[in-house]
Amino acid sequence: MVENQKFLVYRNSGNGEPWYEQYEIPISKGMSILDALFYIQDYHDSTFAFRYACRGAICGSCGMTINKVPMLACRTQVSTLKTFKKPINLPEVKFGDIYDWDQSTEILIEPLPNMTVIKDLVVDMEPFWKFYREVEPYFTKEWSEIAPESKQIPKEMKTIERLVYCILCGICWMCPVNAKYPHYIGPAQLAKSDRFIRDSRLSKENREKILSRVLMNDAVPSCEKYFVCNRVCPKDVMPGTAIKDIRDNWIR
Ligand code: FES
Repeated sequence: MVENQKFLVYRNSGNGEPWYEQYEIPISKGMSILDALFYIQDYHDSTFAFRYACRGAICGSCGMTINKVPMLACRTQVSTLKTFKKPINLPEVKFGDIYDWDQSTEILIEPLPNMTVIKDLVVDMEPFWKFYREVEPYFTKEWSEIAPESKQIPKEMKTIERLVYCILCGICWMCPVNAKYPHYIGPAQLAKSDRFIRDSRLSKENREKILSRVLMNDAVPSCEKYFVCNRVCPKDVMPGTAIKDIRDNWIR
């Protein structure tokens, strides 16, 4: 027998008051939240908007808030939510009035917190990318016809391995500092900075460039050590720990 699951979904046309819409969806084995959103789009409302690309927890496009916890929709199975253990001490995130949310029967779907909604679950990621570009997270090399080799021994790779897994999904922007200060550079941006600062292949000049940006007041010094980013990161990158490492290693 097909089991149905109720959803309460944040909707926003982008030019008016948001509202919450209820949907009932037949659940199949292994169905992800992303699959459920496709069902809503296919069978209930073709104008319903959300982002996705890889469907395999790689591209970071499908970050959204599920039952008040930011998660990747493609990696979250509908059936596991009943027993899902919510990370402790998450800040409250409010998108609209949900007085009628029946937590025992409905899965609540909302956009990522601390970002402006463009439409439904699609948020404006431009501030996220703007800050990302500011830390210049890449190598610069002199151009030559023969690409220079960049060697790294396994031990050096180990020091950045955890940080390399960041997929830039924006989930860590649930940080209360992002909520308070729109100019805060953000946990993902600082984790990415740490990834390059630590990289044995980075030139001294580039390292100093990144450091001069992340040591500005709106970056590492603004972190208030909530470590919410560590608890919600779907890839265990632990941005809060990266920020602490930059602080410990480079602020005297
Ligand atoms: S669709 Fe790519 S991470 Fe979910």
